[in-house]
Amino acid sequence: MSAVVETKRVTVPEIRAHKNAKPVVCLTCYHAHTAKLLDNHVDLMLVGDSLGMVMHGMESTLGVTLDMMILHGNAVMRGSKHALVVVDLPFGSYEESPQVAFRSAARVIQETGCTAVKMEGGERIAETIRYLTLRGIPVMGHIGLTPQMIQIFGGFKTQGRTEAEWPAIEADAKAVAEAGAFAVVLEGMAEPLAAKITREIAIPTIGIGASAECDGQILVMEDMLGLNPSPPKFVRQYANMGPDIEAAVKAYAADVRARNFPGKENVYTMKRVG
Ligand code: KIV
Repeated sequence: MSAVVETKRVTVPEIRAHKNAKPVVCLTCYHAHTAKLLDNHVDLMLVGDSLGMVMHGMESTLGVTLDMMILHGNAVMRGSKHALVVVDLPFGSYEESPQVAFRSAARVIQETGCTAVKMEGGERIAETIRYLTLRGIPVMGHIGLTPQMIQIFGGFKTQGRTEAEWPAIEADAKAVAEAGAFAVVLEGMAEPLAAKITREIAIPTIGIGASAECDGQILVMEDMLGLNPSPPKFVRQYANMGPDIEAAVKAYAADVRARNFPGKENVYTMKRVG
């Protein structure tokens, strides 16, 4: 008899249960090898549309397509077995109507096997969140500094800097929670407002440049690894991989140019066949 070791993925109710409990550990992830490295240490991996900027050198997330999200979503699913994987719905794939959003989200779920999708927006997108969750698609919300609205904001600007802005952002948080989202990202938000929202709503808040009081945190993995030469100010770096990679490549280039390529002693012998 052989023993089958089953690895179960983190579920949506398990993420919800982090409300007012153990913080949810989240990171973005876009490819298979890093998914494997992250898998035992995070509760949730987000295939964020930030991949347009990080992986593809775009200036904003606005050029990211559904096909790109599905391609990277597949890679992350292949590389992981444990974390809950959420894939972003990119700009233009969901805003038009709940029906359009359902078709985009269903494609993502069917073609990647991920558990959930994330959508940016508060009150304006609440009806769509309700429509999807009632039809079996778990949704993570995203409010505050929503990068798909960058042209309206006029840049990546922290939201809720003045108390006059707070009621609208709080209304967004409540609308997303009441519509059935299982968690909500609070991005680029004044600290006391993010803490207040965390106390006010019943679902876990996941902060990025928001507040340590949030029910969980997320960072763009490349930012915390030191691969981004100009990361956002709030990012704590846990490694300095950019300079490390450059030093390794420089050493490799020097070896190749000096014909000091390792392997002479390892050259495999050709076997005679027949
Ligand atoms: O696209 C992304 O990576 C995100 C996170 C920054 C939350 O939405």
